[in-house]
Amino acid sequence: MAIRVLEQEQIFQINTKHTTYLMGVAAGKYLGHMYYGKRMEDAKGFHLLRLGKAEEVEEKHLKNKVSFMDGFPFEYSVWGTGDFRDTCLRVRDEGGYRVCELLYDGYRLLEGKPALAGMPATFAGKGEGQGAQTLVITLKDALLGLRVELRYSIFEDSDAIIRSVAAINEGEKKLYLEKVLSACLDMDNENFDLITLHGCWARERHMTIRKVTEGKHIVSSLRGETSHEVQPFMALTTAGTSQREGEVYAMNLVYSGNFLAETELDYQESVRMSLGLHPDGFEWLLEPGERFETPEAVLVYSDGGLGKMTRTFHGLYKNHLIRSKYLHSKRPILINNWEATYFNFDDDKLVAIAKEAKKLGIEMLVMDDGWFGARNDDSCALGDWQVNENKLKGGLKSLVDRVNAEGLKFGIWFEPEMISPDSDLYRAHPDWAIQAPGRKPGTARNQCVLDLTRQEIVDYVYEAVAKVLRSANIEYVKWDMNRALADLGSFTLGRERMGEFSHRYVLGVYQLQERLLAEFPDLLLENCSGGGARFDAGMLYYSPQIWTSDDMDPVERLFIQEGTALIYPLSTMGAHICVCPNHSVGRVTPMETRAHVALAGTFGYELDITKLSEEEKAKAVIFNQEYHKYNELVREGDYYRIASYRENNMYDCWQVVSTDKSEALVTYVQVRFEPRRKSRRLRLEGLEPKADYRLEETGEIYSGEMLMQAGFLQNMIFGDYGSRLLHFVRV
Ligand code: GLA
Repeated sequence: MAIRVLEQEQIFQINTKHTTYLMGVAAGKYLGHMYYGKRMEDAKGFHLLRLGKAEEVEEKHLKNKVSFMDGFPFEYSVWGTGDFRDTCLRVRDEGGYRVCELLYDGYRLLEGKPALAGMPATFAGKGEGQGAQTLVITLKDALLGLRVELRYSIFEDSDAIIRSVAAINEGEKKLYLEKVLSACLDMDNENFDLITLHGCWARERHMTIRKVTEGKHIVSSLRGETSHEVQPFMALTTAGTSQREGEVYAMNLVYSGNFLAETELDYQESVRMSLGLHPDGFEWLLEPGERFETPEAVLVYSDGGLGKMTRTFHGLYKNHLIRSKYLHSKRPILINNWEATYFNFDDDKLVAIAKEAKKLGIEMLVMDDGWFGARNDDSCALGDWQVNENKLKGGLKSLVDRVNAEGLKFGIWFEPEMISPDSDLYRAHPDWAIQAPGRKPGTARNQCVLDLTRQEIVDYVYEAVAKVLRSANIEYVKWDMNRALADLGSFTLGRERMGEFSHRYVLGVYQLQERLLAEFPDLLLENCSGGGARFDAGMLYYSPQIWTSDDMDPVERLFIQEGTALIYPLSTMGAHICVCPNHSVGRVTPMETRAHVALAGTFGYELDITKLSEEEKAKAVIFNQEYHKYNELVREGDYYRIASYRENNMYDCWQVVSTDKSEALVTYVQVRFEPRRKSRRLRLEGLEPKADYRLEETGEIYSGEMLMQAGFLQNMIFGDYGSRLLHFVRV
């Protein structure tokens, strides 16, 4: 890992272990993007800017500046002076002009990596080989008094590059940031495909692949959160890219609110990828002396297909983003009562579940929605975080003590950001709900959202949640968020700062979670949003696991978990065995298959364990043993996607290999049985070619080379929805 600056040539070279990123300054003024790809030692690439000789730029190109701006591959593009593609930065001055020109002003090299104020950020690890270096390049518009810092950080053990931007008003007049993205990347088109992740509630993060054609391809969220519908992620791939081969340029945003991810192909066959805060409805006032920081964008280049890109993201997030002390430990096998009881439970019912769960080896009971206020359905009481003693007789502490006495830990559900119109909180503070003056706030799932841009509301919410957590031995929190934001605005922000609302809301959420973890450092936090609408890298900074989707049907989960694991580590995916028939899609599937798919994530149950047959209970005991046996491998190992049901419409297969290559776990799900087909060939990856591996289930021995080149032949399983776990151990 090294960042090198060629002072004479004004070229910046960022080298990770396997990649190189090059930028150069044209005519001492304009910072251009030169190269991103496979590692090179040579940095002298001024020709890549297509300007001829450096000394001729002024004479040849800058005479007609607008024409120059139109085609130059800007490292950070700006609106208003001739770059007519979609740009990263748009600034308005007090006079209403949106003209800005950022000129190169200098650089700094820092050891380590600075944090971002109030926002999630990647960090250097404490371990050996986990250090970081940061390059800060400064650009300036002297007339506006605007300084922009472009930050690039790299880590010794990662091929990712982390970018973020700070805008500082050094002038004497106000500036209004109308758009300030975290990163853009100008490249030549190479017949690229674009991969993005789409869906909706119960169908999150399905992979979508399309050709990059002329014009703009935009994916974005304006829901105030990341959303079920789309991820702040895009990857450009060269033609024919597979899991193992091809070049990939990917970007992911470390953020949990409105975002814009855009790919634009222009007339000169140049592609610009850009990513950051969504500019719609956004405007940030920079008073003289003030500074604004964007969220981080993670850039990953892979010359080894999607698989290598995935493992780079996983490694980065495990080693440099997730702070939780639980990251490297087995999470307790939990049972959540939501699909078992919905709102219809009391203390005795929960204790009965705990008692039965304990016998089978389950380790934690999570009490979901409905334990507080007058909440017996979803029409009321959000905000009234006082225990409903009609349901939990004797109060919360008594219930927690009883569950603990059965030998289980206790976890609880909250939806702290919400307020039901029918709640004591709303009756006391109707103005706390997000709303526009004179208009009744609209509801979704019968609820409104609290205005978390107001510090007094953040403080109230924090105390309400913390008070409950202080009252009993609660070891886990599921932090839910069940609607998108609308009717935007705050009574206290004022006209000039109203455009800051959506971002300030997200900062309010971050502040709440930061405070929670500071007061309860041992708490295991799982974020959730109506299933998986807040599965994003921002949330991983606070919680080591996130509820992946309300849909636990193992067939639907193949799509959801493939898309999720494309970027996020398996150890972060909340996954449970569901009730059968499944409550989201009605599908009937074998319990083994539901378990095998859930074992790819954090593992647990979401069913009424007291209603299982003896045969099913016996199976649950085995699944729990399998969890203990395989979880370390799943959590810490390297992930390889072997086959995709999304692509072949027949079967799915993924593999996890321990970092020392001593064992591998292959999960095979045969969605559809095909008559007269004998077997499926599974070509494994990541093994030691010269080593022998024993398949535990049969005792057969195969060489790593054989398994990777010729493959393992998995016999057909009769009937639909069958699955197998295959455990290979080096002999
Ligand atoms: C959301 C969550 C579910 C459950 C319900 C409770 O939908 O995703 O798991 O907690 O809320 O209302």
